[in-house]
Amino acid sequence: MSDTSRTVLLLNGPNLNLLGTRDPKQYGTTTLAQVEERVVALGKELGVEVVCAQSNSEGVLVDHVHSARHMVGVVMNPGAYAHYSIALRDAIDAIEAPVVEVHISNVYAREEFRHTSVTAPVVAGYVAGCGTVGYELALRAVLARDAERRS
Ligand code: DQA
Repeated sequence: MSDTSRTVLLLNGPNLNLLGTRDPKQYGTTTLAQVEERVVALGKELGVEVVCAQSNSEGVLVDHVHSARHMVGVVMNPGAYAHYSIALRDAIDAIEAPVVEVHISNVYAREEFRHTSVTAPVVAGYVAGCGTVGYELALRAVLARDAERRS
């Protein structure tokens, strides 16, 4: 079993498995595998092991969030679930580990239904509109929040 006290979960929600080909104007052409590779590499540099997961199912994402409760934290793009999943919101709220929410696109420059996030009020940080580099920014934010939590 890996040491969860030095592990960060990189969690992606629905449709993000299609990164690279899905709506490149909004999400670019970088694939999810490439994003994961970059975040894992940055994690190594910063002294944490990054484990990656993606699911299109709300309940599976809730289980993943629970599984991260003893980890350093979670970098999470909840996809569309950010806009309405109370189950995901409650899962984030139920764990102490910091969760930093990522949206690749600037959701506030898009349709109005994307302007609401039910998860944003319970996350430790929020990154939107920075493209896929947002995942790396979020990893740094998770580590900073974790350090604050322990000081
Ligand atoms: C997204 C924004 C959401 O509104 C959308 O449903 C996604 C991707 C983003 O990364 O910009 O699936 O989370």
